Amino acid sequence: MSEPAPHTSLRSLEAAAKNVLPQATFDYIAGGGWDEVTMAANLAAFRTRRLVPRVLVDVSAVTTNTTLLGTPVAAPFGFAPTAMHGMVHPEGELVGARVMADLGMPFALSTLSNQSMEAVADAAPGGLRWFQLYVNIDRGVARSHVERAAAAGYRAIVVTVDVPGDGLRPRDLRNGFKPVGRYGNLESGVDYDTPLADLLDGLIDGALTWSDIDEIRSWSDLPVVIKGIVSPADAVLAVEHGAAGVWVSNHGGRQLDRAISSLDALGPVVAAVGDRAEVYLDSGVRDGVDVVTALACGARAVFLGRPFLYALAAGGEAGLHAAASSLALETAKAMALLGTPRIEDIGPHHLAGA
Ligand code: FNR
Ligand code: LAC
Repeated sequence: MSEPAPHTSLRSLEAAAKNVLPQATFDYIAGGGWDEVTMAANLAAFRTRRLVPRVLVDVSAVTTNTTLLGTPVAAPFGFAPTAMHGMVHPEGELVGARVMADLGMPFALSTLSNQSMEAVADAAPGGLRWFQLYVNIDRGVARSHVERAAAAGYRAIVVTVDVPGDGLRPRDLRNGFKPVGRYGNLESGVDYDTPLADLLDGLIDGALTWSDIDEIRSWSDLPVVIKGIVSPADAVLAVEHGAAGVWVSNHGGRQLDRAISSLDALGPVVAAVGDRAEVYLDSGVRDGVDVVTALACGARAVFLGRPFLYALAAGGEAGLHAAASSLALETAKAMALLGTPRIEDIGPHHLAGA
């Protein structure tokens, strides 16, 4: 019998990544807006919920399989869109796309990837890939991004709406952080010698409003997911503007500080959306109990940013594989102990006080 693979604790990866990354790069990944109150609140919120397990349920065959917008996936979590994977691995986004495809888990590619969306698609043809759109100030570029994503087999457009401009991030200001590598999806119009904050302000359209969502939807047949929702009123607007998915997120606490934690925002958003769209969550998910807690609060799936970047930095392809596999095993274990052998068994009745 082969030895079971060693368990990777996602929380241990931050220190491991810090050891191998240049300080400015580590700070960019690890940091948040202003005093990082929301960043801390994202983690703390998960520790305030209490689960109510059921017993004497047959949990001899737990499965983490579920579907996202109709596509089967092996786990209710995925790799959140994150800029410039070249910071953490020489092959950039090819690695994350490959690992997640191998594990049957979703991978969301940032507009600000180092590799082009076509190269990423070629590297992981069988995987479930979503394309995250930062709407370029030049609408022609934004439209071409959507058309290219559709042609390259991405299955949804994730429009990130909580970055009308970059957040105020003291660590990056202190370090004068500039982009690492080149953006694979942007052929021209980028001055790589500009601090990232200024560069993003010049690249992302701060004039975007709800009517633009209708326009973006018209650019392809792909379902549109709106990422960066924390207000139930905005969740309703997202559904009214045709969103197939509402992605609850405060950008990992990197944008408005003292914004509500993602988990605290989730319940009211789920109530407002009902069954009109799928609801996802990111910001602060670090272990299998977090995954199950978010699902009990109504998320269909969750996404992780920093822990998977740290896994790539500290352990490369094998490191990410181990981290994502460990999270799936933790999720299955938490499900068994909660008395929920299938994802659809998890619900608000497993939460204390709900
Ligand atoms: C991000 N995030 C992000 N989101 C997005 O829509 N497009 C992007 O290009 C990026 N880039 C990015 C870079 C880095 C280094 C980080 C850490 C985050 C936000 C990301 O998708 C997600 O919302 C958060 O990372 C979730 O929080 P956790 O899991 O990092 O706590
Ligand atoms: C960030 C931007 C790029 O969070 O989304 O750094």
